[in-house]
Amino acid sequence: MTPEQFLEFARVLPEPLLLVSGEGELLATNKPVADMLGLRRKQLRGKMLFELVTESANDIIKYLQACSSSRAMVIGSLTLRKNDGQTLICRSQGAVIQPWSGKSSALILLRLENRVVATSNFILLNEKIDELAKEVHRRKQAESALKKANQELEIRVEERTTALQETLNELQLTQTQLIQAEKMSSLGQMVAGIAHEINNPVSFIYGNLHHAHKYTQDLLRLVQIYQQFFPNTPPEIQEQVEKIDLDFLIEDITKLFQSMKVGTERIQEIVKSLRNFSRLDEAELKQVNIHEGIDSTLMILEHRLQATHEYPEIKVIKKYSQLPNVTCYPSQLNQVFMNILANAIDALEAAANKDKQKLTNNNPEILIKTEVIDKKWIVVSIADNGLGINEQVRSKLFDPFFTTKAVGKGTGLGLYISYQIIVEKHKGQLSCFSVPGKGAELVIKIPISSVS
Ligand SMILES: Nc1ncnc2c1ncn2[C@@H]1O[C@H](COP(=O)(O)OP(=O)(O)OP(=O)(O)O)[C@@H](O)[C@H]1O
Ligand SMILES: [Mg+2]
Repeated sequence: MTPEQFLEFARVLPEPLLLVSGEGELLATNKPVADMLGLRRKQLRGKMLFELVTESANDIIKYLQACSSSRAMVIGSLTLRKNDGQTLICRSQGAVIQPWSGKSSALILLRLENRVVATSNFILLNEKIDELAKEVHRRKQAESALKKANQELEIRVEERTTALQETLNELQLTQTQLIQAEKMSSLGQMVAGIAHEINNPVSFIYGNLHHAHKYTQDLLRLVQIYQQFFPNTPPEIQEQVEKIDLDFLIEDITKLFQSMKVGTERIQEIVKSLRNFSRLDEAELKQVNIHEGIDSTLMILEHRLQATHEYPEIKVIKKYSQLPNVTCYPSQLNQVFMNILANAIDALEAAANKDKQKLTNNNPEILIKTEVIDKKWIVVSIADNGLGINEQVRSKLFDPFFTTKAVGKGTGLGLYISYQIIVEKHKGQLSCFSVPGKGAELVIKIPISSVS
């Protein structure tokens, strides 16, 4: 590149450019260089580079030599002496455009860059980077805050879902309890109603029986006195005496009254049991005799224990121990006995149905045992020799609505409710033991007095 070509080329460029010889002679410059120095371009003609800078001629020559012997750009620093006496530190990028030869000196192009501008640009850039970094930091913080908020929201949603699930479970529990309570309370009311209705007429009968017996005795006595004083009775009377078999009548009527008395007493006992079972007036904690509860429940189920043309009689064996009175909710405990005993009867009937097909003998039995374990606990065990319960059924036994019985026969609530009554209400335990094919045993363990 000749100095003329350089000028042509450099004129259009806004950057300060200098073309110098290997010895440092200024061969051409553009206007930005002159502006930098505060001179006119004309004034620069023929000058040596070291005349315009504070660096020594030696240093300048060395730099230019480095430029001319390198293929890459060589960075240097020049401190320009401005026309107004001030100095200006520049970064210089030097590149050889024509290397040294025997004939001519090297030609080097220098590109100057005002350090202050560069530095301020640098500062600006730094500030920009700083701002950007801050922005990135801000965004990161916002992102992590968002993430945290999201997580919190998720946790809250989860908590709400759990709370809703719990409420749903509670509602389902209440619903099943209501169904069972309704079932039991209508049974209880019916039983109590029947007991009341029967009680009144039975009381009349029982009350009058004594008088009726006495009056008949009086009348018979009178007949005897008649017979004594008038032994020769007319044939009509004699005929009637024979017809009614008076001697037998006199002997039998006492027995008759006796059995009527036993019968009415039995009815009164049944009524008492029915009342005991329903215990409508005893929704609160009471100290009661557990055996009375079991017996009255058995009384209600009596018709299912008797032999029919379909099923053999179910024998109930009681092995009661001496039990203290237990503080409990009596009507609820009776519900439990009812549910467990009804299940045992169902299992024995199912076994009888199976046996019929195999034509084997069947001696259906329910064994009820009561025991005091220690000062705190008593146990009631109700075992049957029915079909028993396999492991699969046993694991779901206390689940609501779990039933293996036909539609309309079982709702699957009996043991579920019993479990609630024993475990939740009485802080006791309800467990089931079974050898499939041989029978099942339900064991109720309840505290004697510590129901909270
Ligand atoms: N003594 C038992 N022998 C064999 N299986 C039993 C016995 N007791 C309960 N089960 C089984 O447990 C299931 C659940 O009993 P649960 O009393 O809860 O309901 P259910 O008797 O089917 O219906 P519900 O009592 O509501 O009328 C029964 O369907 C039955 O399969
Ligand atoms: Mg049942």
